[in-house]
Amino acid sequence: MRHPHTRTTRTTPRRLAGALTAGLLCAAAAGLALPAPALAVPPATRAAQASPALDDGLALTPPMGFNNWNSTHCRAEFDEAMVKGVADLFVQKGLKDAGYRYVNLDDCWALPNRDAHGQLVPDPARFPNGIRAVADYVHAKGLKLGIYTSAGTKTCNSAGFPGALGHEYSDARQFADWGVDYLKYDNCNNQGVDAQQRYRTMRDALKATGRPIVYSICEWGQNKPWEWAADVGHLWRTTGDISDSWSSMLSILKQNLPLAPHAGPGHWNDPDMLEVGNGGMTDTEYRSHFSLWSVMAAPLLIGTDLRKASQATYDILGNKEVVAVDQDPLGKQGTVVSSAGGRWVVAKEMKDGSRAVALFNESGAAQRIATTAGTVGLPAAAGYTLRDLWQHRTYNTAGTIAATVPAHGTVLLRVQADPRWATQPPAVELGLDGSPLLQAGTPATLTGTVTDLGRTPAQRVSVTLDGPAGWTVRAASPTTATALATGETLRTDWRVTAPAGTPTGSYGLTLRTGYRSPTGTRVTAEVPLTASVVVPPPGGTSYLGDLPRLSATNGWGPVERDTSNGEDAAGDGHPLTIGGTVYTKGLGVHALSDISFYTGKDCEKVTADVGVDDEKDTKGTVAFEIWADGTRAASTGVLTNAMPARALTADITGAQVVRLVVTDGGDGIDSDHADWADARLDC
Ligand code: GLA
Repeated sequence: MRHPHTRTTRTTPRRLAGALTAGLLCAAAAGLALPAPALAVPPATRAAQASPALDDGLALTPPMGFNNWNSTHCRAEFDEAMVKGVADLFVQKGLKDAGYRYVNLDDCWALPNRDAHGQLVPDPARFPNGIRAVADYVHAKGLKLGIYTSAGTKTCNSAGFPGALGHEYSDARQFADWGVDYLKYDNCNNQGVDAQQRYRTMRDALKATGRPIVYSICEWGQNKPWEWAADVGHLWRTTGDISDSWSSMLSILKQNLPLAPHAGPGHWNDPDMLEVGNGGMTDTEYRSHFSLWSVMAAPLLIGTDLRKASQATYDILGNKEVVAVDQDPLGKQGTVVSSAGGRWVVAKEMKDGSRAVALFNESGAAQRIATTAGTVGLPAAAGYTLRDLWQHRTYNTAGTIAATVPAHGTVLLRVQADPRWATQPPAVELGLDGSPLLQAGTPATLTGTVTDLGRTPAQRVSVTLDGPAGWTVRAASPTTATALATGETLRTDWRVTAPAGTPTGSYGLTLRTGYRSPTGTRVTAEVPLTASVVVPPPGGTSYLGDLPRLSATNGWGPVERDTSNGEDAAGDGHPLTIGGTVYTKGLGVHALSDISFYTGKDCEKVTADVGVDDEKDTKGTVAFEIWADGTRAASTGVLTNAMPARALTADITGAQVVRLVVTDGGDGIDSDHADWADARLDC
């Protein structure tokens, strides 16, 4: 566990996360199409909603605000000045105007001991004027104040701040007297007392105060609160803690998406607070995080110190069109329409009949993601309006909803059967044919495409392609078209050369187009694309661990060269060991894993001794697969920790790309340390 405080009563959320997401990831890693879940909530699921929501009129849309935890944990900068500063910025920077209301204090606001009367005492170093003063300040700005405690004897921090178990009524009374409007109620040190009982007691205690207080259940999804908490709290955490990383955000996303049927006005799934702005992800990734939380109707609690936030962070958090998706009064959580190959389509029904559609690219290279108006649940119509909520532009479409989405990016759209569709210019889709691979110093032809998705024609179309600095890009075909009708594509060929000596890896190119609508509106659009610079595989036999990789994904930590996978930082593994045999060469991975190598149609064979590494005692079940382009050329079936190494050989003759894949053996990824010992390539 990597938490700064100890816990006595929780199972590791990290493991839980892996177990819950494994099936989904596994299918995606194997390139299998997942069945598309039905869009509408089936009546059976609706009936299965355990209990009606609390009918107190609170949180009819997902709560929006701020919480200090993700940016400060318990560090000293969490204090009155911070809370007031954030409240000031809510007003000054337009966040209050965008809908953000709650300014919430997390753990560590109190002293470790109650006073002689059993009352909670604010830490005088952090809150010298008490909590009431902070509440007054926040209220004077038209905002609301939130506080935190645990449904246990102590909170989660190892300093041992008092929890509310056994003090529910007096603590709730104290919060209400201070003017608190929101309570986050955690799960640490719960002494094994039944969760439903603990969370119901605090609900009743809050109600008894007579003050409207939004009640946030934080038991990390351990007792499936989505099944019983609709009439207990207004929101419930569905997962362990988020951290400021792409993998954490992704793992939580995948746990929260299937819970869509359980969310609604006054009772929301909570995939934890936002990390936007904290520095561990790129702005593209933060836009995905914010888009996906909004399409999931998640609470939007800003988790960055706004006093230090960049303009880019304010632009993301303050995007009112995206916030409107989250805050739609119908209160539906978006559902997964498709997710094959890391190409996610998530659609959310909106009160006005439109659909918010997130085209999310989980993969590390730009990909085309497509669906249709009918598939996301819109009625048949001649044309639709399609609003891009990040570009703030409106187009018409004949029904196709598609975009080439950059690596880790999300295109967020709002699509509507709108009789005024014809007043908007046609949407076009920009893309590249195939997955572009080139060798440094050798020209390669890349083909760009521009397709009219509109009901109306795109006229006077022109296209350009720009490569990274130092590359040469020359048109090798005409680059203009007089007009493109609905569904028609202009293909343009480009001779692209990366200078000799360009290191292997992924590089960004930009395809741009300009065109006119039939009414003369001029439109420009562009899309970032990726090309990979590769080196031809060496002749003879090489260890795969010594060759450059095209891409690599891994369940925990990075893929390790010549050691096992230690789950965390690079280089934290041990000697590769299967069934007592130690190997000096190979790759150490953790399911779900997928590593690709460029073989340039020049190689014949991959061999390896594979198995679960001995370091995990008795646990771990995995299956190994070797893929030659789109074909599974060899596989082991499920291997357990108890088994000796299995010799695996694959004929990969003629393959352009070879992939080493490890799945979880069907039981989640817990302890799945997998070794590709002695993995070799013959060319
Ligand atoms: C738990 C919660 C977090 C945070 C910390 C505070 O880990 O899940 O969101 O409140 O406790 O200690």
